[in-house]
Amino acid sequence: MNLKEADKMYIGNTFRRYDAVFKKGNGAYLTDVKGRKYIDMLAGVAVNLLGYNDADVNRAAIGQIKKYIHTSNLFYSPYQVKLAELILRNTGGSKVYFANTGAEASEIAFKIARKWGILHKRGAYKVVSMYNSFHGRTIAALAATGQKKFHKYLKPLPPGFIHARFNDIKDAAAKIDSKTAAVFVEPVQAEGGVNIPEKNYLEKLKALCARKNVLLMIDEVQTGLGRTGRFLASAYSGVKPDIITLGKGLGGGFPLSAVVVSKRLEKVFTYGDHGTTMGGNHVACAAGYAAMKKISTEKMLKSVREKGRMLLGGLKNIKSPLIKEARGMGMIVGLELSKPLAGALAAEAFKKRLIINACRENVIRIVPPLIIGKKEIGRAVKIIEEALKGMEG
Ligand SMILES: Cc1ncc(COP(=O)(O)O)c(C=O)c1O
Repeated sequence: MNLKEADKMYIGNTFRRYDAVFKKGNGAYLTDVKGRKYIDMLAGVAVNLLGYNDADVNRAAIGQIKKYIHTSNLFYSPYQVKLAELILRNTGGSKVYFANTGAEASEIAFKIARKWGILHKRGAYKVVSMYNSFHGRTIAALAATGQKKFHKYLKPLPPGFIHARFNDIKDAAAKIDSKTAAVFVEPVQAEGGVNIPEKNYLEKLKALCARKNVLLMIDEVQTGLGRTGRFLASAYSGVKPDIITLGKGLGGGFPLSAVVVSKRLEKVFTYGDHGTTMGGNHVACAAGYAAMKKISTEKMLKSVREKGRMLLGGLKNIKSPLIKEARGMGMIVGLELSKPLAGALAAEAFKKRLIINACRENVIRIVPPLIIGKKEIGRAVKIIEEALKGMEG
């Protein structure tokens, strides 16, 4: 039985896999067992910020593995403290709670919002999130996710999750009432089609939340950690949220997520309110600290902005009737097609050794490692152009 057959036999069928088995990764490249080299512009779904085989991340992870891998949160962790301090310095938050995944970070954010609502807003418990959002795959995170397709087999959903239109302050205002504890929003809707907010959207949302005494919680799981060319995408707006969720590349490729709370919320959770066996694991925090030290430098962030402009500019220059719009912020870029052909385009690109992803049937999402070179960006744009040409006829 080969790997493909064994996978079908033993693994539950929830992922459509790309047709390749990789033997090694290096920088922005993956090489498969047949020796074919791919430019990876999916990066483990926006996780591998420093690409594959970053020497510093490897050294940090291996160094920690040789000491101990896991002791649980009942004991002190030097790397949790180092990483938390670095996160707070770069986000302006006051305290960090570690977890394992983005979905779990969403859950923690809801729990803090609900407890805050009970303590400070006469039992307010509702969370207003946006249509087309994505906040993870647990039941409450999916209830917040504003896409019907995810709700189909989960009813009844937990109560208190309300949706408003993204980019529409009036709708957000209409959906907030006296029982609303928090608004939850992505600074760029990632899975939902790389939707970029209008100028001042977050500022207006923050002002609305302040007026209505509602917490503003920003989901930076995909947009944070340098992805958009700032440590946080929300930093472009200058908005200081009450809660920030982080995940994806936070552990340098190991499972790690975090919830960052502002000063006014730092006493909401007390002993026993949050727990996790694995969250903030030593190896994940050691690797994550090595990764975050590199990602948070102005040099790195500037290069992300520059290369992001190059990638977006290259895509905008492609002349094809199949392209409706190229849009992006730093190195999260979406290519909206005029037909539902994103899956077909990703498959064509893959044949030409470029890994990109269809996040909607008509939108390609491009989230390369932040360290990708200009040469690889140029090559990727060319491949997409050629692939589209082949599909036009
Ligand atoms: C904005 C956002 N929030 C939350 C999540 C969920 O993260 P995870 O898959 O680690 O649970 C994702 C995953 O893609 C995401 O993009």
